[in-house]
Amino acid sequence: MCGIVGYIGTKKASPILINGLIRLEYRGYDSAGISTIEKDGLSMMKDKGRVKNLYQLEGMDNLNGTIGIAHTRWATHGKPSKENSHPHMDNSKTFSVVHNGIIENYNELKNFLADNGYTFYSQTDTEVIPNLVHYYYNKDEKNDSLKFLRAVKNACCDLKGSFAIEIICKDYPDHMIVTRKDSPLVIGKGEQENYISSDIPAILSFTRNFYLLNDYELAILSRDTIEFYDKHLTILKKEPKNIEWDATSAEKDGYEDFMLKEIYEQPTAIRETIGAKLNEATKCEFSELNFTKEYLSSLNNIYIVACGTAMHAGLAGKNVLEKLCKINTQVDVASEFRYRDPLVDEKTLCIFISQSGETADTIAALKLCKQKGAKTLALTNVIGSSITREADFSIYTHAGPEIAVASTKAYTSQVILITILAIYFAEILEIAHEQVDLLKRDILELPRKLEETLALSESIQSFSKKVYQEKDIFFLGRGIDETVAKEGSLKLKEISYIHSESYPAGELKHGPIALIENDITVVSIITDKNLVEKMVSNIQEVITRGAKTLVITNQDIDETMFDMTIKIPKTNSFISPILSIVPLQLFSYYISKGKGLDVDKPRNLAKSVTVE
Ligand code: M6R
Repeated sequence: MCGIVGYIGTKKASPILINGLIRLEYRGYDSAGISTIEKDGLSMMKDKGRVKNLYQLEGMDNLNGTIGIAHTRWATHGKPSKENSHPHMDNSKTFSVVHNGIIENYNELKNFLADNGYTFYSQTDTEVIPNLVHYYYNKDEKNDSLKFLRAVKNACCDLKGSFAIEIICKDYPDHMIVTRKDSPLVIGKGEQENYISSDIPAILSFTRNFYLLNDYELAILSRDTIEFYDKHLTILKKEPKNIEWDATSAEKDGYEDFMLKEIYEQPTAIRETIGAKLNEATKCEFSELNFTKEYLSSLNNIYIVACGTAMHAGLAGKNVLEKLCKINTQVDVASEFRYRDPLVDEKTLCIFISQSGETADTIAALKLCKQKGAKTLALTNVIGSSITREADFSIYTHAGPEIAVASTKAYTSQVILITILAIYFAEILEIAHEQVDLLKRDILELPRKLEETLALSESIQSFSKKVYQEKDIFFLGRGIDETVAKEGSLKLKEISYIHSESYPAGELKHGPIALIENDITVVSIITDKNLVEKMVSNIQEVITRGAKTLVITNQDIDETMFDMTIKIPKTNSFISPILSIVPLQLFSYYISKGKGLDVDKPRNLAKSVTVE
């Protein structure tokens, strides 16, 4: 949601900025723009629509500046339009700003600035920022090298809400200032050049050395230097983080779409996430954690809080934490949890799952739990992301960058990591030894079984061809399979725009079966041997009413009654979602392709939901 890019160096900035924006397209946007410092002052090129349209804007070829800022906007205040696109300048065209986030007190600031003679040309909250910086800049009587920095710092102290901001000033043609609060921003250090981005993959091909800012910290960048300051303008020392992700992991690498590539990367992502944490001979190891038997035995509750797909991974986490560790576990959608005064105290462990580590509601829920005295643990894919800076503990999936909006490898990596976490707890608690041994063995076999599952892709593609024009598709499951039905249904909705519902199969007769009519498609997941008969009876009920059926199973059942059965490898029920979701990911992918849709960038959606 909104992307920012910045460049300062020796090369022409505009193509670097536009290419950076293209790499951030997956975050979701409706307008784009760039601003550079030219010999005659600040340039600004922007419009609604796709990033590549920027190349067509008159004057773009004439930009030669080697410092610039860029933005993709996902409209919040004011419709998508040229005026509302970023960058925004102050009235005197001294400052140019791009901003990701929401300024909650923009009305108040706008009135204040209007009273001081400023005029506004857009409906955005952002436009107050360059004008407020200008207001402080003008008031400052000192004309030293820190005047620009002081003005930005003073303006930011007045802002309420969330922001990641890049700002350039025509009076300081060799400098750029960036700052953030609750919105993502990374600084990439190169040789005689520095980069800014909302996330790491967009600039991974230029550098592996990244700096991260904490809330309200500022950085002033030149071609060769990066200086860091806190909100009182005290100089800070920071060490860069070396990111191990391979630059090609942010490329399509011969695949038609990122989503397909990421589906096929799952065996590797699982292997990497298991890493050295789990083996058959020794106890599970999380060097980042220091939980004791005493602490875990004292817990009254675990809460898993997340959004979307990450929340579905949390449901698999609940299953294993309750069954293996015998700890009462609840799963909540972050945007609901925050507002329902949850019963959280020092005896609660709160786990937050987020691929990006930047989801606004999840981070806010984490802050709430901290206030209530609970220990907080972030489970994320992005080192140094905002959530990791808030949580008491952080553990990481090693899925590599996930670019497609529809989450695939992040989900399966989250499920495996929370399962390993549960094993780690069980080993500390000295319980369930036999179950743990079996589960460990099954986990280590997962990458191979995932490869076998991916090999089923052709049959799934052929079934998808039969149903891609449907209006409604239902997903059914029981127990752990119902959590997979939820994730399968979400995947289908987001990339195919087909209306879809998922239900616990036993609930059908309590209402939803009224929707089942001739030729409707029902997808069912059956991996729990204790629930096979019940599931088969439920499927028979929909067949009787004319439904077409796709069944994903690892059980030996009579397949003749279904239109298509996808037989996946058998595995431990705690980790069965990691295999059973794969056919459903492929199912959604092929339906979306059949409809000719943009699989990686579905309409209205953003990869990283940084507003509440
Ligand atoms: O980055 P996060 O894991 O916190 O994102 C949470 C959801 O926005 C995300 O899982 C979303 O539901 C995906 N688009 C689903 O494919």
